[in-house]
Amino acid sequence: MDVLVSLCKRRGFIFQSSEIYGGTGAAWDYGPLGVELKNNIKRAWWRDNIHLRPDMVGLDASILMHPQVWKASGHLDHFTDPMVDCKACQHRFRADKVEEQSWIHYCPATKGNKFEVPAGEPCKHCNVRRSLCPDCGKGELTTPRQFNLMFKTFMGPVEEDAAVTYLRPETAQGIFVNFDNVLQSMRLKLPFGIAQIGKAFRNEITPGNFIFRTREFEQMEIEFFVNPLETIDGRPADEVWHERWIESRFAWYQRYGMRRENLRIREHEKDELAHYAKRTVDIEYQFPIGWSELEGVANRTDFDLKQHAQFSGKSLTYFDEERKQHVVPYVIEPSAGADRSLLAFLADAYREEEVRGERRVVLRFHPDLAPVKIAVLPLLKKRPEIVTTAHDLRATLARRWVTVYDDTAAIGRLYRRQDEVGTPYCVTVDVQTVGDSAKGESGDRCVTIRERDSMEQIRVPIAELPGIFERLLGDGAWADVARSYPPARG
Ligand code: GAP
Repeated sequence: MDVLVSLCKRRGFIFQSSEIYGGTGAAWDYGPLGVELKNNIKRAWWRDNIHLRPDMVGLDASILMHPQVWKASGHLDHFTDPMVDCKACQHRFRADKVEEQSWIHYCPATKGNKFEVPAGEPCKHCNVRRSLCPDCGKGELTTPRQFNLMFKTFMGPVEEDAAVTYLRPETAQGIFVNFDNVLQSMRLKLPFGIAQIGKAFRNEITPGNFIFRTREFEQMEIEFFVNPLETIDGRPADEVWHERWIESRFAWYQRYGMRRENLRIREHEKDELAHYAKRTVDIEYQFPIGWSELEGVANRTDFDLKQHAQFSGKSLTYFDEERKQHVVPYVIEPSAGADRSLLAFLADAYREEEVRGERRVVLRFHPDLAPVKIAVLPLLKKRPEIVTTAHDLRATLARRWVTVYDDTAAIGRLYRRQDEVGTPYCVTVDVQTVGDSAKGESGDRCVTIRERDSMEQIRVPIAELPGIFERLLGDGAWADVARSYPPARG
């Protein structure tokens, strides 16, 4: 994880929030390349789950909602974690996670020497187990108390109880409360889904592991509504749709290059299931911190719509024309984190390779996700014709793809820099491209394209570049394109 954190800072992907004031440790800022990468992930998710499907629509609900929403959803009463405090150092822990970290121990069997004991193990000198604060090793921990994770704030100019509201802890509730608006305005028929991408806020007791668990993050959520009276091949439709969504979401990560062996499905145990959920699975990724949740896919039954109908007094039903009756739809909820997806795509893309005796770091991003698609590099920046041609090329290609120009180092170094940020293609303009007007030589108007993963190079006419990148950055494979052009010298 440290390697990724350092790369992200050095190459402008992710910075600590408010770093010049010492940072917060609970929120992160996306730099110039990070914002491109995150936007690309969100764009791919939106395109595949909304635009390409006939049964999905989008929504962008507000972060601040009526406080009754959180009473109805159960967040006010139940969105809590058990918390304990150290009476000496005041550090705060989730009571149910405190055994999962290593602990500081002043061992009486070794004249009070200080040791760090691995999580869950006793001290190997005195055989004592942890009973004090794991961080300072001295203070007693308070008895656990429930801590609500929602951020409280005030709506309007007065800070009084009547004005209390909350920053949303999930985007899902914005979809449920708009169910009828979307149903009526878009004249939808079941089954259909509403999707939303947006910020969510949770006052996590122990944020950490970089962008894995933060207090401000972005979710990409779908609520897919199904008629509970319907069956598909003799099975309840909600159960079939749940399986379809698990498959679809599992495949989605692989479509953008995530390796199959780093993904798995984990079924929630009965005692772990929310009381309203019929079945929930997590799609887990093998993060540098170990296997952890990337996305949850839950069958939430009709719980949410019924709760909001009861608390608001408004009907949230669907009229089943065939059966001539009102039904409360069941809902399947694939709920992913945009930041956590980014961390997984980043970890999966990261490679350290040896090339001709030198170490190269490369991010093997899928071209759709790569922050920069093309880098135009002049071989010699002392030759004005080369520089002008390279600038012109960048301007042309930038109309269609994110394209950068860089002349701040020798070509080998420039390639390594682009590899390290995952740019799939570099275009090099050289002496042969422009010729030497002083000697009356005109250039061949060809440039070199270098592919990031194979590092192969081909020589292509400038005039054909837009068409070539249309293929390469569409669905075309490098090998197919490269076959049509002569190789260039490396
Ligand atoms: N509406 C259901 C829901 O919010 P969740 O499992 O609490 O379910 C869904 O959150 C996803 O949101 C998680 O799988 C994770 O990717 C992301 N997520 C949740 N809490 C997060 C946090 N504190 N920091 C970053 N991402 C988080």
